[in-house]
Amino acid sequence: MELPQPVSSQETGESASVLEEGGEDKFKTSEDIAFYRRQVQQVSDSSPYQVLTKTLKLSETCANVHLHHSTMKEDLLLELHCLKNGIVRVKINELQPIKPRYEATDALIGAQHPQRWTSQSNKEAITLSSEDGHVQLQMMTSPFHMELSSGDESIVSVNAKGRLHFETLQAKLSPRTIDASSGQKEDPLGLWKEEFKTFTDIKANGPSSVGLDFTLHHFEHVYGIPEHADALKLQNTRDGDPYRLYNLDVFAYKIGSKMGLYGSVPLLIAHKPEQTIGIFWLNASETLVDINIANASQSSDTGPPEKRRKVVANTDVVWMSESGVIDAFILLGPSPFDVFRQYAELTGFQALPPLFALGYHQCRWNYENQEDVLSVDQGFDKHGIPYDVIWLDIEHTQGKRYFTWDEKQFPNPQGMQLHLQDKKRKLVVISDPHIKIDPDYFVYSEAKKAGYFVKDNEGNDFVGSCWPGPCSYLDFCNSEVRKWYSDKFSLSSYKGSTDSLFIWNDMNEPSVFDGPEQTMSKNAVHFGGWEHRDLHNLYGFYQHWASADGLIQRSKGSERPFVLSRSFFAGSQRFGAVWTGDNVASWEYLQISIPMLLALSITGISFCGADIGGFVQDPEPELLIRWYQAGALQPFFRGHSSIQTKRREPWLFGEKTTQIIKKAIQERYCLLPYWYTLFCRAHTKAEPVIRPVWVEFPKELNTFDLDSEYMIGNALLAHPVTEAGAKTVNILLPGSKERWYDVRTYQRFEGDQNICVSVNLESVPVFQRGGTVIPRKTEAGMTTASQTQTAFSLSIALDSKGFAEGELYIDDGYSFSYKTEKQYCHWKFVFLNNVLKARPVDEMGKMISCLTVERVWIMGLMDKPVSVTVQCPGKKEEKLDFSFKDETMTIGNLHIQVLQGWLLKLK
Ligand code: GLC
Repeated sequence: MELPQPVSSQETGESASVLEEGGEDKFKTSEDIAFYRRQVQQVSDSSPYQVLTKTLKLSETCANVHLHHSTMKEDLLLELHCLKNGIVRVKINELQPIKPRYEATDALIGAQHPQRWTSQSNKEAITLSSEDGHVQLQMMTSPFHMELSSGDESIVSVNAKGRLHFETLQAKLSPRTIDASSGQKEDPLGLWKEEFKTFTDIKANGPSSVGLDFTLHHFEHVYGIPEHADALKLQNTRDGDPYRLYNLDVFAYKIGSKMGLYGSVPLLIAHKPEQTIGIFWLNASETLVDINIANASQSSDTGPPEKRRKVVANTDVVWMSESGVIDAFILLGPSPFDVFRQYAELTGFQALPPLFALGYHQCRWNYENQEDVLSVDQGFDKHGIPYDVIWLDIEHTQGKRYFTWDEKQFPNPQGMQLHLQDKKRKLVVISDPHIKIDPDYFVYSEAKKAGYFVKDNEGNDFVGSCWPGPCSYLDFCNSEVRKWYSDKFSLSSYKGSTDSLFIWNDMNEPSVFDGPEQTMSKNAVHFGGWEHRDLHNLYGFYQHWASADGLIQRSKGSERPFVLSRSFFAGSQRFGAVWTGDNVASWEYLQISIPMLLALSITGISFCGADIGGFVQDPEPELLIRWYQAGALQPFFRGHSSIQTKRREPWLFGEKTTQIIKKAIQERYCLLPYWYTLFCRAHTKAEPVIRPVWVEFPKELNTFDLDSEYMIGNALLAHPVTEAGAKTVNILLPGSKERWYDVRTYQRFEGDQNICVSVNLESVPVFQRGGTVIPRKTEAGMTTASQTQTAFSLSIALDSKGFAEGELYIDDGYSFSYKTEKQYCHWKFVFLNNVLKARPVDEMGKMISCLTVERVWIMGLMDKPVSVTVQCPGKKEEKLDFSFKDETMTIGNLHIQVLQGWLLKLK
């Protein structure tokens, strides 16, 4: 692959127009990371830890026992919790730390419903059984390791590889650290001091890293731990770098790299046909994950083949973090959806976005001024292309001072927003966490006065360079700072804002142009005295939280916020959307966007997207078309481009390109009722909106490696075209008992086959699964709000038994009244025995909708019906006209109130 120019978003001064040379070598490899070297060096055949059986204590909520390090003579406290929803929590801390160690509990919304354990012990082992009898934990005492089983099956071993590693906090000149003061080569183990390039990290607390291994029995497919620009299925790291979770600003990131990108979710999901499990490693410091997948086809012994035992595939996962405690949650599944729910019960469910946020977003660095904004807005109208939101990047401010406007370019921001509002459109503006050092800038002076900035290790405000030049960084880890920052979004404080303005948090890894690896020094200090190293991966999460809260408060708690964040952590799904940062306009980046978004989706963050067209460099029209078509099938749908690229509004590439892009966007808008219903299910049931095919077909081995196609909900299989000049596309239609229907031609295909379909520039291969019903709008309109009165259609795809079902969720699309006043309606459609029935999913929804269904088409009818009738409540049965062709029946002009108990009967 030809790589883009290695440029980086380095200091650009006032004009922000120079993207300077940067490149890979500004970032560490695993060899540069001292705690990783230490942990790897200390690997021995057996763990030095032993269980002190006599210290075992059982309480209502957990079992506690001490672990003793046989050479260091140090004791750790192991806490084991069994939670009622199928989660086992393994917590290890020092028994008596000389000072507290950081715990990332803000990522959690709950870890409740503990069960009691009962125990049995002998010299070799302690066996714990959960109250409900489902979980057994056998703890071998010397060396310490644990076997977790459910039923009769052993699922996970803990510390079987002896990688429990816990650097206890030491007073400076303890024997362990004598090396550091011995004068020769200074601190080669990086205990108290670590050098990288021109940067020196002085570690006030000395070495503090932790690590632990998990053996996942009979699993050889593992997924998750975003964010990496890599395949969905995690690779063996035996011969290379571990996966790194360390939030970094990596411009034009390299594909296939395991280094950290903008956000981290330390959740790994393992899958085999019979079971799915998860390991959630709750630690916000720099984390490395080594993965060793034993190959099932290897055999264990030499000797005659009939005598060789087949080695059962196991995957060893070693988690290593620079500081904090060990706090690992083993999610026992057993289905993929059980794991998603278990994880959401810990870290929160996807926030339900306002409907407009699922429409198309038009962004660019930068729309220059009001006229530019209004002319782009007009361009969409002129070409009849729907869109909901236009975005302003950093240049809209007064010298990169967030919450202000460049008054020359934007003399009347409110007028501009009102103009957009008239067309039911919104504005999103950027608000980064770095604050320009300028005593005359109110955000700076207030924060300075209140002491709201992160400090350096000498107690002064931390200073680093970012877009505005020298900046200080708000300490969002402090709840008081978050409250103050949230208030900045109130209409009275944010001059020129209106309630149709929403927020984009960028550079919140945080990006510090002159910092090590372009981020904040690890020895910067946050509220409560915590070092930045302890909570680095949570910084962006906290800003996202404060911004989302700010927008909620602006509406006095009544309206849903929309905030896009570049950085994220476990739990960020509670606050809004994320995107995959500075990708490049090339086919490889279009391809990688699919596994990147799937990895986010299965780790809780359903509302995610990639910059359409590629942020860096200029896409040729074919790539732009293919990217729009793919992006229209991804949850967050935004076109964005760098300041150095040519303008690329959809109509700038000739009539044909405009028409094809328009069609892709229109199809997205028509499908919004389905997307919104899926978001409702993500919000309430933790089902990922888009999902890997294996999630829907957990027993089909041929789906486990798929990166080029995926499911939207349970009903649509999407295979965007991501190859230049493609004339055909090979598609796997999974499931031996399944039927699939091409959504444009209605052609039926049997499952469990690879098909090769011909494509032209307009083709977007999408198939509806037999057995499903999909609600759509009959017209795209020009905005999501303009669709409010538009009728629905239902596409009914029959399975081999002539059955189909699906749902439709509707609410006002913007407020919390769906929650506070049950103002929603949620209906289910079931087609069985030639009858389509509509009924409410639950009786709670109070919203009344007069919207109608105008069109129904039923795919996969083997015989042409003789007659079709509809029966609506309080009305006589009515005969309907229909057409029938190639197994598909279409009924138009229905005018049925969609949300009432109605019956459609085929005879
Ligand atoms: C970062 C963002 C990009 C944005 C730019 C200027 O590079 O990732 O989306 O346009 O900063 O704010």
